[in-house]
Amino acid sequence: MKTVLITGASSGIGKVIAEYLCERGYRVYGTSRAKHREPGIKSREGGSFELLQLDVTNDDSVAGLMQYLATNRIDIDVLINNAGYGLAGPLENFSMDEAKAQFETNFFGVVRMINAFLPVLRARGGGVIINTGSMAGLIGLPFQGHYSASKYALEGYLAALRMEVLPFNIQVFNINPGDFRTGFTANRRIISTVHPIYQRKFDQLLKMYEHDENNGAYPVVIARKVEKLLRKNGSYRMRYVIGKFDQVIGVPLKRLLGDTLFEKLMMLFWKIRD
Ligand SMILES: NC(=O)c1ccc[n+]([C@@H]2O[C@H](COP(=O)([O-])OP(=O)(O)OC[C@H]3O[C@@H](n4cnc5c(N)ncnc54)[C@H](OP(=O)(O)O)[C@@H]3O)[C@@H](O)[C@H]2O)c1
Repeated sequence: MKTVLITGASSGIGKVIAEYLCERGYRVYGTSRAKHREPGIKSREGGSFELLQLDVTNDDSVAGLMQYLATNRIDIDVLINNAGYGLAGPLENFSMDEAKAQFETNFFGVVRMINAFLPVLRARGGGVIINTGSMAGLIGLPFQGHYSASKYALEGYLAALRMEVLPFNIQVFNINPGDFRTGFTANRRIISTVHPIYQRKFDQLLKMYEHDENNGAYPVVIARKVEKLLRKNGSYRMRYVIGKFDQVIGVPLKRLLGDTLFEKLMMLFWKIRD
């Protein structure tokens, strides 16, 4: 059975995938920034997985994790880059530090992990890398602009990486969830300053986003898909968009209507114009 490492497995999507795979016999390691190095979080059904300490924004932390895996002779077959958070605010009001921090976790955190794992996977003759992207990486979300940008960046990186590493039998693909009920909503940060000119629309949209997330599906849908894909063993598409029909339809609709018409539709939907 495959050995899987999932970043951001203390909560939400990562935790549910870890528990699901664990229950189906996979050997699972999760990560969290909190200080554990001991086995592990107990799943609801009684299986367990080991939760290791990792901060994907920190080179030393990633090096420490790699050292731990090497010392304990833990060979990872599947890396799932899932750690991430949301940051909301009008783009005009983001400080450079806030924008960079968003990318440091959601994009460079993935890059850091992949850089660390590629030599290991190459030496082992292959492996699978899955990244949790987002529908926000395919459709721009107003007032979550740098979150969207960090997930769009993952798409470009993925498209290039797939071609570079496929010759080494390393398969890479993204999972792009719509809205799911997780800790994401409570963990979303708001930028420090919102100009009054944006405040009303920002509050209105944030409320809509939160409503959709709180009414989203439980992430076991994603876990089921990931497990099914892992059983399939290869020839993966670039991305798998997962979520409620009225959300995932947005992706083909955007392709069909074209960017400009789709944007008009979304502005009406989000009531951006008065
Ligand atoms: N929920 C949704 O609707 C939705 C939709 C599309 C995409 N996503 C994506 O799904 C992924 C998981 O989010 P979620 O919804 O499950 O949210 P969540 O419940 O808040 O979980 C986020 C996980 O990321 C970890 N994390 C955050 N920053 C980290 C860092 N610097 N280093 C290591 N781990 C870090 C957290 O662990 P610790 O705090 O313990 O470190 C936690 O386990 C994210 O990439 C998110 O963008 C979510």
